[in-house]
Amino acid sequence: MKIAGSVVLVTGANRGLGAEYVRQLLDRGASKVYAAARKPETITTPGVVPIKLDVTNANDIAAAVEQCGDITMLINNAGVVIGGRIMADHALENAKAEFETNVWGPFNLSKSFAPALAANGGGVIVNVLSAVSWLSMKEVATYAMSKSAAWSMTNGLRLELARQGTLVVAVHPAFIDTDMAAGVDMPKTSPHQVVERTLDGVEQGVPEVLADDTSVFVKNSLPKHIETFYPKVAAPRP
Ligand SMILES: NC(=O)c1ccc[n+]([C@@H]2O[C@H](COP(=O)([O-])OP(=O)(O)OC[C@H]3O[C@@H](n4cnc5c(N)ncnc54)[C@H](OP(=O)(O)O)[C@@H]3O)[C@@H](O)[C@H]2O)c1
Repeated sequence: MKIAGSVVLVTGANRGLGAEYVRQLLDRGASKVYAAARKPETITTPGVVPIKLDVTNANDIAAAVEQCGDITMLINNAGVVIGGRIMADHALENAKAEFETNVWGPFNLSKSFAPALAANGGGVIVNVLSAVSWLSMKEVATYAMSKSAAWSMTNGLRLELARQGTLVVAVHPAFIDTDMAAGVDMPKTSPHQVVERTLDGVEQGVPEVLADDTSVFVKNSLPKHIETFYPKVAAPRP
């Protein structure tokens, strides 16, 4: 699908990767961008239509469907990392909160907007996932659970929406240089690169975007996943 002339709704559009999606969509000639945020007054990019959308709020989703029935692309970008280790105190509450935003948000938005996308010619759903859809890390284990579930949801949605001509795109970045990874002292990909590769992928009609070298490495390691990432765990006990 060409970005020029498209009508796009971006969730979590007020900062980080979402704000970069908005900028590059406008640069590529999108004809309308709905910039969705929990607090629409925090949308500062000129030339967009700000809308209030907490992705965990059913009333907000219903209102967005009512207001944005002309979209040809939905970008499920909003996400949170709250928890950490599975064995930590409050891990269940944290994991549930992460699932609300990272899994059930895109799930409900995709289901709610699918009829509009079909009516508008098929269109595209982009789900921003992660390299940790495939790889766990102790520090973000509950978040990784949510991104794995969101990956499976994305794959299921792709199968079901193929018949109406909707392309469902999974985007897998490793660490990105945004607020979410501010405390991480590791190499980070620029938001610009993640968005550029996403929009190139959409224009080429690909179902999966590997947004950086780390994600390529993790994906390519999947057949030997346990030995590559968990060698001590995989080694036989003496
Ligand atoms: N940063 C990374 O290292 C990294 C790596 C891989 C994947 N990702 C994914 O990339 C996406 C964008 O993250 P980011 O790096 O831009 O993070 P960020 O800088 O922390 O921004 C997160 C965005 O999501 C919004 N958001 C959170 N909960 C929401 C809700 N319930 N309803 C609506 N909006 C909500 C935030 O809005 P508020 O301003 O209201 O909080 C903010 O706009 C997420 O899906 C994230 O999981 C990030």
